[in-house]
Amino acid sequence: MEPYKSQIGQPVSRLEGHLKVTGTARYAGDYSVPGLLYGYVINSTITKGKIISFDTSRAKALPGVLEVFTHENRPSLAWFDLQYADMDAPPGSPFRPLQDADILYNGQPIGLVVAETFELARYAATLMDIEYEEEAFDTDLRSQQHLARSPKIGMATMLKPLPPKPKGNFEKAFNASPNQVSAEFFHGTEHHNPLELFATTTVYEGKGKLTIYDKTQGTINSQMYVANIFGLKFKNVRVISPYVGGAFGSALRPQYQLFLSVMAALKLERSVLVTLDRHQMFTFGHRPPTVQRTRFSADNNGIITALNHLAIGETSRFEDYTEVVVNWSHMLYPAANTLMQYKLVELDVYSPLDMRAPGGVTGMHAIESTIDELAHKSKIDPLQLRLTNYTEIDVSLNRPYSSKELRECYLQGAEKFGWDKRNPEPRSMRRGNKLVGYGMATGIWEANQLPAKAEAILTGDGKLKINSAVTDIGTGTLTVMTQIAADELGLPVEDVEFAYGDSKKPFAPIQGGSFTVSTVGSAVKAVGAAMRKKLFSIAKKMKGGVFDGADLKDVSFEGGRVFITNDRSRSVSFQEIIAANDNKPVKLSKFSVPSILKLKKYSRAAHSAVFVEVEVDEELGVINVTRAVTAVAAGKIINPKTARSQILGGMIWGISKALREETIQDDGLGKYMNQNLSEYHIPVHADIHELDVIFVDEKDTVVNELGTKGVGEIGIVGMPPAITNAIFNATGKRINQLPIHFDMLL
Ligand code: MOS
Repeated sequence: MEPYKSQIGQPVSRLEGHLKVTGTARYAGDYSVPGLLYGYVINSTITKGKIISFDTSRAKALPGVLEVFTHENRPSLAWFDLQYADMDAPPGSPFRPLQDADILYNGQPIGLVVAETFELARYAATLMDIEYEEEAFDTDLRSQQHLARSPKIGMATMLKPLPPKPKGNFEKAFNASPNQVSAEFFHGTEHHNPLELFATTTVYEGKGKLTIYDKTQGTINSQMYVANIFGLKFKNVRVISPYVGGAFGSALRPQYQLFLSVMAALKLERSVLVTLDRHQMFTFGHRPPTVQRTRFSADNNGIITALNHLAIGETSRFEDYTEVVVNWSHMLYPAANTLMQYKLVELDVYSPLDMRAPGGVTGMHAIESTIDELAHKSKIDPLQLRLTNYTEIDVSLNRPYSSKELRECYLQGAEKFGWDKRNPEPRSMRRGNKLVGYGMATGIWEANQLPAKAEAILTGDGKLKINSAVTDIGTGTLTVMTQIAADELGLPVEDVEFAYGDSKKPFAPIQGGSFTVSTVGSAVKAVGAAMRKKLFSIAKKMKGGVFDGADLKDVSFEGGRVFITNDRSRSVSFQEIIAANDNKPVKLSKFSVPSILKLKKYSRAAHSAVFVEVEVDEELGVINVTRAVTAVAAGKIINPKTARSQILGGMIWGISKALREETIQDDGLGKYMNQNLSEYHIPVHADIHELDVIFVDEKDTVVNELGTKGVGEIGIVGMPPAITNAIFNATGKRINQLPIHFDMLL
């Protein structure tokens, strides 16, 4: 027999890949149930005010239109009087669709047409006669900065720590330093735009019972939301979401199509599908615009002396959305004098929403650009400046990192990229008529873990099934969880089924924050370990006494058998164990909870070093990212293939953020103007050249049993500043507003 190969660390291809590329995988809007009705949402065309009259009669007169729901005829619901907030709700009062006549933001859902076909519903939605009373509004962050205030603190703050306390005397230290840099940054609004549109199919099962196919990053989050706001029993609400066509944070919170679909289904006692169109994907949350100011200083040896980082973000009038923008510089650079400030401005917009590496990618762009400028002013190589200020501990909280192989990321990344060939003088490197620039930056993202439960069932055929409510938002969760379970029991992945994406299954929190492998993976590992113990205890009692005198530590699990490790002639198969269990499958579950007491002694983060080459056409200003290398330290990598895809996706998104992606806002109208994919630019194949990913070995025995830190978000974080620093090296121009367009370089 071949020696057993651990499933952890294997580049297993996505187990659902074939289903996805053949169109067999069904997404939330793909369930054609008998008698299905279609809903189309009506959105406000004003930004603030009141609906004075809402005449739906022209639409209702059309044959095939069943109902038009507005604030005037919507069912009365428990929720409208109750303070219910979903798992990802920031402090405040969540938006309630169709609650009343008030308009709080442009594009707010104000009605739902329900008809026999989607086309009819969409057409009927054009026949509304709505009168509004408009009020003055403000949607411009930059002109309202004087209103910035501290954010309210709430549940969400647990995963979003406040800025660290000030240290030393910033002003004094900064003013006394020979090398000083002050910079201001602006990031505009961005919208998630996953390819899959938001959709919910609510299947009306009768008697207050619903099966809901929802586009979500959390089946149980959607289930709790629906049960709470509609006053239904939890067990009567089942939310299913096995495939998610991208979400990136936009499906962390239940969205309004879920609410409207359930409301219509309950009222009409029919099954209802509500799909949002691309235009409507710009109406329920976004990465907030942010203004940042940095002031960093260093002495003549390149030792950083003082750090000040202020960020002002946007929020809505009804919730305080926050993100971690300013904490990072002090987690990376041990300055003795620091001042970190984070503030919000309330505007007439919908609440912002987490979008891949929320806060981190925005904050690190400002931080790593400022560090680059500080290196330039101090006449020190930017990589050297970072190494000079390297620290093994998180100075902002005075505690060690659970592990930190960032130095290796810097060294291996620089080597692979050829950083030593960089000429630090801007405009000094050329290729034909193109200016060439090299830039680098650091990435960091927190490694969190939440509680989760998993169930394991071993059946008479020797196969293992694992159940969890978790979703797979396209990250490879199904594949990775299968590998973790297979590894724990010594089975090939073919003998393990991971069943997920269903609120009926054991608890999993929302999928996001790069914490799913650590969270659900820990539960899967724990239940796998419990299964080993149980199987061995049954095997020990079996006739023949194969394991007489042996303990669990003396045996190995390999290829569906339990062996005495030192005497492989003594073994039994899983089938024999189940047979000895009166042919009853063995079923177990385990709750896995992070060990807070141990963890709070450490800071836990994934790190990266990003190196980028750009070419800038001197006459046309056209920018190309010709090469990029990202070296990542993220603890144990369970599957290098799916992990690499995560990092590549993040790098491409970083190119998008730096050079393409932008929601254009007209503050005179209070409205987003480019609500489609033809005007909301993202990179195409022609924009993407050589991308390289290195996973640096990082052993972490603290973070969790698996030693994983997550790779969902770290890939994007360092990319925008590495690009803008490369553009500076190429052109001598430092542009602190993203995206950088060619005209800004002319
Ligand atoms: Mo992520 S922004 O937690 O999907």
